[in-house]
Amino acid sequence: MELEGQVALVTGAAQGIGEAIALALAGAGADVVVNDVNEERAKAAAVRVRDLGRRALPWVADVSRGDAVAAMMTAAVRDFGHLDILVNNAGIGQRSMAEDISEADWRRVIDVNLTGVFLCARAAIQVMKPRRRGHIVNVASIAGKRISIHGAAHYTAAKAGVIALTRHLAYELGPYGIRVNAVCPGETATALIERIGDPAVLESTRRLIPLGRVATPQDQADAVLMLLSDRARYVTGIALDVDGGMLLGWMDNDMYEQHRHGSARVDATG
Ligand SMILES: NC(=O)c1ccc[n+]([C@@H]2O[C@H](COP(=O)([O-])OP(=O)(O)OC[C@H]3O[C@@H](n4cnc5c(N)ncnc54)[C@H](O)[C@@H]3O)[C@@H](O)[C@H]2O)c1
Repeated sequence: MELEGQVALVTGAAQGIGEAIALALAGAGADVVVNDVNEERAKAAAVRVRDLGRRALPWVADVSRGDAVAAMMTAAVRDFGHLDILVNNAGIGQRSMAEDISEADWRRVIDVNLTGVFLCARAAIQVMKPRRRGHIVNVASIAGKRISIHGAAHYTAAKAGVIALTRHLAYELGPYGIRVNAVCPGETATALIERIGDPAVLESTRRLIPLGRVATPQDQADAVLMLLSDRARYVTGIALDVDGGMLLGWMDNDMYEQHRHGSARVDATG
């Protein structure tokens, strides 16, 4: 198994994309620290990791708190001896127009989605650097490359920050044998989207996906596995779109329909 003997920490792993990543890593042979703020669901996800024959440590910590992150890393190394893989997945979203975002909401979204990635990466680097090996994968979003359709300005800004942070860390850590990459999920069927997605917007964005369906959490987990694979050993600093091609055809629905289904052929070559 590709990740046999490796230790991974996945944040926000109690449900959705994070849980799918934790189970995919366990399926590939890794022991997993299952982080979340929801204790009950983290414990349940840890049971599912153990069902795959791997060790699991459920750990409740808010990734936006440096002290809690440091304690989690200490526990991970105490129980499992080392850390090979960090997947920064924990994230929150909110649907709002910019003028309606309170200062507290702005700070919370930036704190969890961006500062949390930094704090977990900083703690992991301290463990990985002396061993001169390690992988960090950050779950950003296609929102970080364009805009969030379901979320808001703070979410877009945080995810753009995650992509920039990924680049910077990859540059700093390459000489130490540590690869750092990001995945940018497009619309993925999870509770997050069910909570904040406007049903009308959801329906029309679905029609913009060339592969014809929204992603499953498993689609995102497989992309993470691909980046962690030895076949990606020379890949670092990228932000991989896992969006069914959605960003390729970024245009409004009327333009899209005309382009896809327009009957009149226009020959530009005379
Ligand atoms: N679902 C999508 O369409 C989509 C698209 C692009 C990017 N993403 C990103 O993927 C990641 C996972 O999203 P999801 O759709 O699975 O969401 P989700 O809400 O289903 O799961 C997120 C998990 O993170 C946990 N969490 C929240 N705040 C936390 C904190 N401060 N510390 C630790 N854990 C915390 C939650 O308890 C939850 O278990 C997020 O970073 C999200 O921004 C999702």
